[in-house]
Amino acid sequence: MIDFRSDTVTKPTATMRKAAYEAEVGDDVYKEDPSVNKLEEIAAEMLGKEGALFVTSGTQGNQIAALTHCKPGDEVIMEANAHVYVYEAGAFSALAGVQPRPIPGVRGAMDPFEVASAIRADDIHFPETSLICLENTHNKAGGAVIPIDNMKAIYEIANSNRIPVHLDGARLFNAAVASGKSVKDFASYADTVQFCLSKGLGAPVGSIIAGPSEFIQKARKWRKRLGGGLRQSGMIAAPGLVALQNNVDRLVEDHDNAKILANGLGNINGITIVNEVETNIVIVDVSGTGYNAEQFVEELRKKEILVGGYSSETVRFVTHYDVNVTQVKQAIEKIDNLIN
Ligand SMILES: Cc1ncc(COP(=O)(O)O)c(C=O)c1O
Repeated sequence: MIDFRSDTVTKPTATMRKAAYEAEVGDDVYKEDPSVNKLEEIAAEMLGKEGALFVTSGTQGNQIAALTHCKPGDEVIMEANAHVYVYEAGAFSALAGVQPRPIPGVRGAMDPFEVASAIRADDIHFPETSLICLENTHNKAGGAVIPIDNMKAIYEIANSNRIPVHLDGARLFNAAVASGKSVKDFASYADTVQFCLSKGLGAPVGSIIAGPSEFIQKARKWRKRLGGGLRQSGMIAAPGLVALQNNVDRLVEDHDNAKILANGLGNINGITIVNEVETNIVIVDVSGTGYNAEQFVEELRKKEILVGGYSSETVRFVTHYDVNVTQVKQAIEKIDNLIN
């Protein structure tokens, strides 16, 4: 199978498995797991933040951020196709009790002027705007890199209104590698950051949230409340550290493969590439092939290619380290044979 469904499908490398096996561990609820402590220190340093916390998933990281920054009844500004709005099962409302304020963006980027206009005035009738969420890269915008200047402009507006900014950086390392900027550059325009170890970086489990020490201290309690105090979690933090140390620079291969895939698929009659491919996601409109998205996914499965249905007419391909360039080319050829 050539599996393009997501960059979450990668299997841990031999080095990661060895790191898990050999990990020095302790009880992380007592802050006594050396492997977790090391991962958190290195992650905080990479992001230029005072502290970091190892959490079970990107969703848990984003939810802990909302729970820590906000109180029930508050409003959170986010892009209308943000992962936290579309794909986290309404958790902001269900868990933090906050109301989302979606702002439609262009390729995932909100207009700073619209963000400023959406901030609530101090009025007894209104919810309080207590958080602005950004996402980089933007998943639903096809892995688009949100320009750093856009983040800066929104961060300045947030600062002048004393509203914290949380960055859902599930794929922040993809944004950094694609733009030639560092994750620290991007993180400098957010108070708190979540990034996933288990997407393009290839670790089996886990995410990091990073921010000021005081925030991390409160977040640690929320993590405990949510059942995320994982005891000897060095077993899963150790592969996460390997991911950070070994798998960042190679993301460029995934981006190159996504471009090769987009070029190849774009040359097939009836297929249109929907997004400008900047990182590792390719969204393809298949309506000209005679198949709808569901049928297309099924036909590809028969040819041992797995892709994700995205809408009734579009499907999504994601490149990652378990798909190499030869497999990308094989996939293009098989799809060409299917359509023509
Ligand atoms: C932008 C973004 N944020 C958050 C998440 C959630 O991560 P997890 O699946 O680890 O909960 C994802 C997962 O795809 C994502 O793409």
